[in-house]
Amino acid sequence: MTLLRFDPSGAINSEFGVTPEQLTALYPQLETLRREMVEVDPQQYAECEVPEAKQPLDARFYWLPQEQLDAYKQHREASELGRIFKVANSLASDIDAVVVLGIGGSYMGARAMMDACCDPYHNELNRAGRGSRPRMYFEGNNVDNDASQALLSRLAAGGYGDSPAEQRHALVVISKSGGTLETAAAFRQFLAALRTSLGDEADKWLPKLVIPATGDGGKLHDLATAIGCEEIFSVPDGVGGRFSVLSAVGLLPAAMLGLDCMKLLEGAVAMNQHFETAPPEENVVLQYVAVNHLLAQHRDKSIRVLSVWSKELEAVGLWYDQLLAESNGKDGKGVTPLTTVNTRDLHSRHQQHQQGRNDKVFNNLIVESYRTDPLPIGTSELNQDTLNDLADKTLIDIMSAAIKGTNDALHADGRPTTDIILPTIDTYVLGQLFQMLMIATVIEGRLLGVNPYGQPGVEQYKVNMNKNLGRA
Ligand code: PA5
Repeated sequence: MTLLRFDPSGAINSEFGVTPEQLTALYPQLETLRREMVEVDPQQYAECEVPEAKQPLDARFYWLPQEQLDAYKQHREASELGRIFKVANSLASDIDAVVVLGIGGSYMGARAMMDACCDPYHNELNRAGRGSRPRMYFEGNNVDNDASQALLSRLAAGGYGDSPAEQRHALVVISKSGGTLETAAAFRQFLAALRTSLGDEADKWLPKLVIPATGDGGKLHDLATAIGCEEIFSVPDGVGGRFSVLSAVGLLPAAMLGLDCMKLLEGAVAMNQHFETAPPEENVVLQYVAVNHLLAQHRDKSIRVLSVWSKELEAVGLWYDQLLAESNGKDGKGVTPLTTVNTRDLHSRHQQHQQGRNDKVFNNLIVESYRTDPLPIGTSELNQDTLNDLADKTLIDIMSAAIKGTNDALHADGRPTTDIILPTIDTYVLGQLFQMLMIATVIEGRLLGVNPYGQPGVEQYKVNMNKNLGRA
């Protein structure tokens, strides 16, 4: 099946990009780092012999997709994937909606998949239109009073039909540590509301309708056990939050939406195979790292823009923002990620990108084949808008013209671009993209000399917040 492609040609030149010689010179180091990921990390992890400088070593995301698929093949319903399918499929007819509670790596992947792969108006469709899948909402990713109140009211109003299932919703609560305040506070509030909405039936339904994914110990695990949750999914050891999209953290919400989780994992496995076997000059992961890293080192491109040319991919961009920022923004190093959605942001950010500080590289995320039929401009008797000359052109034609026009304009002002080309948007391609960007982030962190795993800098705000709340 088709793999996504990477075209760095808009960044390879001696005037404002990187040179072929610079790229070639980096290959030996990249090959060493590839071996580190593929051979050394798994061995050190398995033998619990991780050198201090590499701790934490949350490298398991790399082999997790294959692990999940193998376990499913061998144990079917008893495997984690089998249990996820069972919960997702059996609950579909019992509920109208599901709220996914989680923050950071515990929600951004699920949001990205929903936005990329579901009908953009999924939550507004009736049950048949949604393929009998629940509406999905996200909370516990903030402490925004109005947002939480609005969702609680929305849930209390129920669905649009009269059946009991239309009045019921479920809670998927995701926290690896089990103690993140934003998610824990939301869980308490949404659990209380769910209990109220179930009335006399609360004892019967709560164990089914509350589905946690968390570490093996911790407060959330204890709470889920006290509720008697029928299923508790695990956020596996050795998988960091922002690297957990292909664990139960992303798979459970995806399966509830009816997305093809097998294809998602197969896409990631295909990317691993490519990463392991393709020579550096043809390797999409190593090429992406090499070009972006060299631009940061030699051309001061300290801002890395992911220009997504599809509204559906904005949340994928935000997922990558977190991945890159939290992984490699350490020890005074790392570039600043920024997602733009085009052509929308050509009318807001582009002036600066074209003529402001020349400190950015633009990685375009381009969709080759759209899911829906091309929409033509069409002819009109009212030609005051003078669009009749474009009557036969479709939105796809205009998008292509805008992509080329923007790339050419940026090059003319000495600004480098690259293209990541997605054959289409589906779970197979998303699995590839997630895995590509996770591997690339680790390789780049190691090129920079930072440990891409862990996020020590996030702790201080939590200490301060708790102190401000009167906690020790
Ligand atoms: O990447 C990370 O580890 C973080 O972004 C976490 O996902 C985030 O802080 C949420 O943590 P937890 O899942 O423990 O609630």
